[in-house]
Amino acid sequence: MKPKPRINIIMWRFMGSRLTSSTRCMSTSTKALCRFGWWDRVSPAAKDPITGVTEAFLADTNPHKINLGVGAYRDDEGKPVVLQCVRNAEAKIAGCDFINVGRESNATAVGSKLVEESVKLAYGKDANVVKEGTFAGLQALSGTGACRLFAEFQRRFHPESPIYFPDPTWSNHPNIWRDAQVPVRTFQYYHPVSKGLNFAALMDDIKNAPDASFFLLHPCAHNPTGVDPTAEQWREISYQFKVKSHFPFFDVAYQGFASGDLDMDAQAIRIFLEDGHLIGCAQSFAKNMGLYGHRVGCLSVLCADAKQAVAVQSQLQQIARAMYSNPPIHGLLLVSTILSDPETKALWVKEVKVMANRIQQMRSTLRESLEKLASPLNWEHITNQVGMFCFSGLTADQVDRLVREFHIYLTRDGRMSMAGVTTSNVSYLANAIHEVTRYN
Ligand SMILES: Cc1ncc(COP(=O)(O)O)c(C=O)c1O
Repeated sequence: MKPKPRINIIMWRFMGSRLTSSTRCMSTSTKALCRFGWWDRVSPAAKDPITGVTEAFLADTNPHKINLGVGAYRDDEGKPVVLQCVRNAEAKIAGCDFINVGRESNATAVGSKLVEESVKLAYGKDANVVKEGTFAGLQALSGTGACRLFAEFQRRFHPESPIYFPDPTWSNHPNIWRDAQVPVRTFQYYHPVSKGLNFAALMDDIKNAPDASFFLLHPCAHNPTGVDPTAEQWREISYQFKVKSHFPFFDVAYQGFASGDLDMDAQAIRIFLEDGHLIGCAQSFAKNMGLYGHRVGCLSVLCADAKQAVAVQSQLQQIARAMYSNPPIHGLLLVSTILSDPETKALWVKEVKVMANRIQQMRSTLRESLEKLASPLNWEHITNQVGMFCFSGLTADQVDRLVREFHIYLTRDGRMSMAGVTTSNVSYLANAIHEVTRYN
């Protein structure tokens, strides 16, 4: 039997565009039919807490305003920095034939170079995994993109497995994995009283999680707390991961910012590597190369052998292909030039140290200033914590007062980006913190 012809709305629209004047009246009713409320149910999304802080800061005209919200490096004048190593790399690639380099085969080769160098940076240049090539790796759209790729990969091959995040963690982690339909859980991490690590609770949660769970770990300069486990604690964590067959996924967004030394900041990854774990790793060059807008990062997944690495690589490529095909090439060339040219890399290593030292100096000065003001509170955690952030312990009400009365902007969880503290604003900041905390 011949199927009945069906005319759907799209066909009506198509026909409507071809109607003659004699059939115009029919098109009017069709238009009404087509005015379907496609987006009526869409309400505005909740503002990202960090973006909201930046917007409020930009709208403030007070000359004393300070932005402690943004997690990007600023110099001692509060200005964003273009590193000299980036300028040198830019000069090196200036004559490059971008059209040719951008061709598919060449772009893949440059991408592979970036992956190779990033993997050395994370796992160590002499690591067996690097020599043997038993990893899958892909250039990703900065750290966020690397996490997103992995979340998708995790869901495809372990759809039932949740991922555990430290509590607290970077506010975007839950969004990324939730959007990939991965169940999200947390493990205890921070101790609000000591403002340090709650190691016992962390170990309990690792032990109590179902075997073979995914865990996201910040290997250094934990965001937002600035609290990292010691080497000894990492060893215990790694051991327990083995016992439980958990999968460690390291999110490396601040390599170099904790200690000023890129290798030292990778010690957690290297400890897990030594213990024979298969590891996933998201790397970002947004902060430690100051290349935020270029979106250069790397996702690597260690595999049991070369054959497995080929399979994993092809799956990751397929996921990326459907999401955004290939990443842009300019930032990729900058980063791979910096990492592979010994002179430029040496300069980068020095510049990372300078950035980390400035932040460390601001931690000390802020703490000293608060102590000089005879603050009744203990501020040791400002210098005990490391990296870009200080989890100050300020309450949401105290943060609101800092914003309202002192034009100092930070997220309501009390996270301060120490990169926003400078020689000229640190005493104003200390006074303001003292004012909002002295009677508590
Ligand atoms: C822990 C952590 N991971 C990943 C990222 C993402 O960084 P990117 O800008 O490279 O996407 C950030 C950025 O704030 C972060 O703090």
